[in-house]
Amino acid sequence: MASPSRSGVFDSASDRRVEQFCESISFDSRLYEDDIRGSIAHAEMLAARGLISSEERDQIVVALGEIRRELEAGSMEFRIELEDIHMHVEQALIDRLGDIGRKLHTARSRNDQISTDFRLWVRGAIDRIEGRLVDLQRAFLSRCDDDFEIILPAYTHMQRAQPVLAPHYWLAYIEKFERDRQRLLDCRRRVNQSALGVAAVAGSTLDIDREATARQLGFDGFTANSLDTSSDRDFAIEAAFCLSMIATHLSGWAEEWILWSTVEFGFLKIPHAFCTGSSIMPQKVNPDVLELTRGKTARVIGNLQTLLVLVKGLPLAYNRDLQEDKPPVFDSFDTVDACLELAAPIVAGAELRPESIRARLEEGYLDATTLMEYLIRRGLPQRRAHHLVGGIVGEAMRRGVPLKELTLEELRAHDPQIDASVADVLGVDNAVRAFVSPGSSAPDQVRQQIDAWKTRLG
Ligand code: ARG
Repeated sequence: MASPSRSGVFDSASDRRVEQFCESISFDSRLYEDDIRGSIAHAEMLAARGLISSEERDQIVVALGEIRRELEAGSMEFRIELEDIHMHVEQALIDRLGDIGRKLHTARSRNDQISTDFRLWVRGAIDRIEGRLVDLQRAFLSRCDDDFEIILPAYTHMQRAQPVLAPHYWLAYIEKFERDRQRLLDCRRRVNQSALGVAAVAGSTLDIDREATARQLGFDGFTANSLDTSSDRDFAIEAAFCLSMIATHLSGWAEEWILWSTVEFGFLKIPHAFCTGSSIMPQKVNPDVLELTRGKTARVIGNLQTLLVLVKGLPLAYNRDLQEDKPPVFDSFDTVDACLELAAPIVAGAELRPESIRARLEEGYLDATTLMEYLIRRGLPQRRAHHLVGGIVGEAMRRGVPLKELTLEELRAHDPQIDASVADVLGVDNAVRAFVSPGSSAPDQVRQQIDAWKTRLG
């Protein structure tokens, strides 16, 4: 059967290889629900504007319901000469209703149809990811009370820097994923504009009601310029960026926990339900889920690149190149969804190893900066205090002891302003309690943050 989009202008049937080359039904069939929703809204609008009768509308709506069930059941046979999901649905309608089915495409083009379908799909997918981000934030939050007393080294340049409470780490990830959530919700506002009624590129000479279809489909409004809308994929690319940022955050976390679960670190046990074994080395428990989370991030970032390159040279308005936008967008949503689904139970179920962390916590001079600030409080200029504490640390290093094991006399030899009160800032337990600034790891600051997130995340 010839494609319904080939009008009387053609003087030959299409080459079968062209059909194979141009088809998108192999991947856009997953838009079927959104396509049918859009078609129902369009049919109702056409009837309200007298462009079809109410009997015709009723028949179309009933038939579209049947077609939806057929697609849901997977019983529709896809034919590449029908190219895409839009023509499959329309052809199924024509098969059922004849000329009444042939009226549905009034004042509509596949160009505004695909944009509308895709916006509906991306909107739903954003909502799913947003829910998963909340689940992950809750998983981090669920650890905070139990881990409150555990002190971890904070690193810069992957070198030991200053001591922090374990929940300060968990809250750091809650913040990152909150920005991701807000970014998605902001993107959603631009996704949630109806393209329906833009038709091919210039709108329609028929008196359609774009406001009505937009409202019925749950859009916040409809787009302003038909040329822009026909060509616009910003909304999808922006979503792909939001997903790249989420994947990047997940990847950094995964890398950190892979390191933390090594014998060398010994900070953490990843739940065995989320680890895999080795086919040859019986002792191995491998963090493959975390490694693949890191690895799949490459795909998600690659998809963003694909989309940007896809649109970078397109003149207005719709060009068939745009059909290539679906696989990368679907893949980014699917991949990030799968990563987030596993991240939450890993975060909630991992066990910190307090003894192993504690055993080496006094190594690395995590209290050196606290000692420097002690001297600043006593009036020493920062640069002098910095230099002086460097000398003290050097001495302790040569002797292979932590700062708190130097005697008061040894410390006073560096600066006589040091007195017995210095004991209050030395050692990681004292150092971590010495923080006071907002956003720091001061225990009361961390407690406040935990409580605030408990209120926000419920
Ligand atoms: N399958 C097409 C796509 O995904 C639908 C729009 C086709 N429009 C056209 N004028 N051929 O972009």
